This record gives sequence, C-alpha cells and structure tokens, in this order.
Amino acid sequence: MAVLLQSLVVLSICAVLNAAACNNVEQTNNNCVADSWEQIFRSPSRSSILPLLRYKNKLYYMGVHFRANWYEALHFCESIHMKLLSIHSADENQIISKYVKAANKGTTEFWTGGTRLVDGTNFVWMPYGTRVEYTNWSGGQPSDVNEKCLQLWGSSDNLTWNDRDCNLGLFFICERCCESNTCPPGL
Ligand SMILES: *[C@@H]1O[C@H](CO)[C@@H](O)[C@H](O)[C@H]1NC(C)=O
Ligand SMILES: *[C@@H]1O[C@H](CO)[C@@H](O)[C@H](O)[C@H]1NC(C)=O
Repeated sequence: MAVLLQSLVVLSICAVLNAAACNNVEQTNNNCVADSWEQIFRSPSRSSILPLLRYKNKLYYMGVHFRANWYEALHFCESIHMKLLSIHSADENQIISKYVKAANKGTTEFWTGGTRLVDGTNFVWMPYGTRVEYTNWSGGQPSDVNEKCLQLWGSSDNLTWNDRDCNLGLFFICERCCESNTCPPGL
C-alpha cells in the first residue's frame, strides 16, 4: 500500500512538472513516465493516438476531442508537455488555417495562448509571458476589455483573431517548439 501510494504521488508530481524535471524523477522510478503523454508521443507505435502536425520548427496538436475553457486548455497543453498555441507570422497563421480546415470539425473557433494584460490593451502569449508582436485581428477586433482571451475564428481559409470570454468552451491547439535555436524568445 505504501509503495502504491508513493508511486501515485510520484506520478502526480510528474504530471505537473515539465519533462526535464520529470526525467530526474525517472532515474529513481521507472514507472514515472511510462504512462505519461510524453511517452505516448515518443512511441511511434502509439503516435496515432494523438497525431502531431509538424510545420517548420514546431509541432502542433489539434485539441478537437473535447472543448475546454481557456484555462483548461492552457493546463491541458502543459500536461502533455506542450504549450497553448502562439502565432508569430502570417505564414504560421496560414498553416494553422490549413490544419483547421483539414480537421473539418464544423467550427473554426480555437483557443490560442493569447491573453489580455490588466492594462486592457496589450496581449501576451501564455505561459511564455512574451508580448504579442505579430497580430492578425479580424476587422474591428479586439473589441471588449472584458474579453480577455485570444481565439481564432473566421472562414477556415483565412482564420483571424478575436478577443473572447475566457470561460467559453472551445477547441484549442497546443504547440511545441522542437529546435531551441530556431524558437521565438520564450518558446
Ligand atoms: C484574410 O484576412 C486578412 C486579415 O483580416 C485580410 O486582409 C485578407 O483580405 C483576407 N483574405 C481573404 C482571402 O479573405
Ligand atoms: C492573416 O492570416 C491569413 C491566413 O489565416 C493570411 O492569409 C494573411 O496573410 C494574414 N494577414 C496578415 C496581415 O498577417
């Protein structure tokens, strides 16, 4: 019983730590990463469970299996050792549009990691905390200081950005930057 409890504690610690920290725990407990999302992603035989899309230096996961509010989406991406989407160029906005179109889930509304600072004006990418530099707002957006989170919407050929109530349940996209020397600051 004590052993079981101990491994449960270790497993839940791993769930909230990042991969690097988890690898340290792994040395003392081989079960640590066995069932983690990280392991699923690394295993070619299981990669179809959560397919990742690759574009340039990033991997993306389309969160289309359940809807989540912005906070849940942020947390879920972290739990699979990814981050909620951040967009840094027209190129990237375009490729995400293509992915959304290909997924064909009957909606083009997806959470990104963008959120409004308390100054009501500036947006940052969470959890990086980096300022949103490149933007692709829909006409007239952002429109409401009470809508604190940044979503994609629009026609799937041309997704643009909108500020939205963070509590709304939407699909979402997670990302992971693969090559640290080519990642934008903070990624
Ligand atoms: C796509 O959206 C951008 C930004 O709103 C706009 O300038 C452009 O004309 C749109 N393109 C198409 C094909 O709708
Ligand atoms: C906005 O995104 C669309 C694709 O979704 C892209 O075609 C367009 O070039 C982007 N506009 C800007 C100003 O980056």
